[in-house]
Amino acid sequence: MEMTEEIQFFKEEVKKEITISRFEHSIRVAEIAFHLSEINGVSDPHLGYLAGVLHDITKQKQNSFHEEIFRRHSFEYSHLPQPAFHPHSAYFYIQEKYKNVPTEVLSAVKNHTLGGENLPLLDKILYVSDFLGSEFALRSNSYDIWMKKTEENLLYGILLKSKNTIEDLLEKNLEIHENTFKMHNETICQFSSST
Ligand SMILES: [Fe+2]
Ligand SMILES: [Fe+2]
Repeated sequence: MEMTEEIQFFKEEVKKEITISRFEHSIRVAEIAFHLSEINGVSDPHLGYLAGVLHDITKQKQNSFHEEIFRRHSFEYSHLPQPAFHPHSAYFYIQEKYKNVPTEVLSAVKNHTLGGENLPLLDKILYVSDFLGSEFALRSNSYDIWMKKTEENLLYGILLKSKNTIEDLLEKNLEIHENTFKMHNETICQFSSST
């Protein structure tokens, strides 16, 4: 299947799994991921688009759905905060249901919520695109500046999301996963040496 045909196929598939507003978010994320992939020299920016389309495919499933997939794959999930169930269940669900989704796309889907250390470029792009495609970001007066600065330097966008995530979790008295701190700290170091 051609990449553009494959994308069309997955759009139809994802539409069956989530609400229209979540689907619209996914398409926004896909478009931003495509754009940032082009800017950052990803060899096939369609991979960014596909990762965007797929990233929230299991977002609106019940906890029992996620937990059943984790058990089926003997995946230890006690360390995961609930908001990070869906990227991990999506990682398994997509592989169970469809053949030949590129491993780069699967990795990006898995890491889009928590981030991590030493992540591949596509993972970083999807992490940022998910934030810039969020209702929260779109409502912000700073949106155009955020987008422009992220276009100039992807590290800026990573810090934007990790910082917002950490602040939001602190505010709500919720647990902050170590991957989010790792992503934040790694990026702070790289950002200060790149500017
Ligand atoms: Fe998500
Ligand atoms: Fe998302």
